[in-house]
Amino acid sequence: MKILAFGGSTSSASINRVFANYVAGLVPEAEVTDLDLRQYQIPIYSIDEEEENGIPAVIKDFIALVAAHDALVISLAEHNGSYAAAYKNLVDWATREEYQVWANKPMLLLATSPGGRGGASVLAAAESSYPRLGADLKATFSLPSFNDNFSTEEGVLDADLQKQLSDAVAALLG
Ligand SMILES: Cc1cc2nc3c(=O)[nH]c(=O)nc-3n(C[C@H](O)[C@H](O)[C@H](O)COP(=O)(O)O)c2cc1C
Repeated sequence: MKILAFGGSTSSASINRVFANYVAGLVPEAEVTDLDLRQYQIPIYSIDEEEENGIPAVIKDFIALVAAHDALVISLAEHNGSYAAAYKNLVDWATREEYQVWANKPMLLLATSPGGRGGASVLAAAESSYPRLGADLKATFSLPSFNDNFSTEEGVLDADLQKQLSDAVAALLG
């Protein structure tokens, strides 16, 4: 299974990118593509920008990359209860090229943050809207208090959270 994994963030030290790649690596025999969203240097969306300059060429690349994979593991960064602006902007542009941007791919939707709610608000927003954008949403999982609950060597440290996560990974395959 070819899995595209990315964080909904353009931070060079994105904990969501780390987490998405860790979780994708839990899928047996997965071939994981680690996507760094910083490669998409695009203007802020507006209808005027689109009419004047068109949809940025790299948006087609993003859509093709999604289409070239069997499943998506996305971990959303939360900024003020919603998507990080650069990520939201990428998805908004992508939907102008192809509304069904998630291409009916099986999707595991995650969120994590250093705080105790673990990005629960942004996760709920995406859970409600991404099926309309073509996601075959299999499961969601939020990891609260990333710095306490995750280690690079051992992964998710809390047993209950580990169980929830392995159920979510199993759902991606089901
Ligand atoms: C402008 C801004 C707003 C934030 N708002 C939230 C928030 O609403 N909820 C939350 O859990 N964390 C919030 N945070 C903290 C982020 O969760 C934290 O920066 C996290 O590392 C972002 O994920 P990333 O490392 O993948 O970019 C905010 C951070 C910034 C810079």
